Amino acid sequence: MTRPTTEQAEFGEVEVRRWAADDAEELRDVIMGSAERLRPRLPWVDEWFADDYDAIGKIAEWNDKWDAGADRHFGVFIEDMVVGAAGLHDRLGPDGLELGYWLADGWTGQGIITIAAGLLTDLAFVDPEIEHLRIIHDVTNLPSAGVPRRLGYTLLGDREATGMRALDDVGIDCLWEVRQADWPGYASLA
Ligand SMILES: CC(C)(COP(=O)(O)OP(=O)(O)OC[C@H]1O[C@@H](n2cnc3c(N)ncnc32)[C@H](O)[C@@H]1OP(=O)(O)O)[C@@H](O)C(=O)NCCC(=O)NCCS
Repeated sequence: MTRPTTEQAEFGEVEVRRWAADDAEELRDVIMGSAERLRPRLPWVDEWFADDYDAIGKIAEWNDKWDAGADRHFGVFIEDMVVGAAGLHDRLGPDGLELGYWLADGWTGQGIITIAAGLLTDLAFVDPEIEHLRIIHDVTNLPSAGVPRRLGYTLLGDREATGMRALDDVGIDCLWEVRQADWPGYASLA
C-alpha cells in the first residue's frame, strides 16, 4: 500500500484517485452500461446519454472545482479499470464534506465501495479544517446505508430531502456522520 496523498489512495486492489481526461471515454461507457441500475438512485445519469455529451469537459469541470477548493470527484479503479466513483462534496460549510458514491454493474456485493468510502474518509481528514463527514441517502436505499454502517459512521436520523430526487427515492434522507476525532483510519477497520 502506498502512502495516501489527498489525490490518491489504495487498499488491496482498490484504488481511488482524481479523474483524468484519459478516463472520460471509459467512464461514459461505464455509466451508460450501468444506467438501468444507477438511474433509479442518481438523477444525473441521463445527461451522459446525449449524442454530443462532452465527458472530457465534465472531468475538466470537476477538476476545476477541485482546484478551487470545492467538490473533489474521484474514480474508483481495480487494475486500472473504472469500477465506480466517489466524491467529497462541499455542501456542509467550511468544516464538513458530504461523501457520495456509486458502483458499476458487475462490481457490487464485494465490499469495494466500502473500501473506497473508507479511503475517502481518510483523505478528507488529511485536512485539519474538516471536522466531520456525512453520508446522506434516501431512506429506501438500503445498499447505500450499508456503507456508513460498515465504516462505523453514526446514524444521526432522518430529514426531508432538499436536493434533486431520483426516481426510486421517496424524499426522506438518512444522515450518517463521522467526526475527525472519532475516525480511527480505514486501515484499522479493514
Ligand atoms: C450504493 C452502492 C454503491 C452499494 O454497493 P454495495 O456493493 O452494496 O457496497 P460494497 O461495495 O461496500 O459491498 C458491500 C456488499 O458486499 C459484501 N461484501 C463481500 N465482501 C466484502 C468485504 N470484504 N467487505 C465488505 N463487504 C463485503 C457485503 O456483505 C455487502 O453485501 P450485502 O449488502 O449483501 O450485505 C450500490 O448499490 C450502487 O451503486 N447503487 C446505485 C447508486 C447509489 O444508490 N448510490 C448512493 C446514492 S446515496
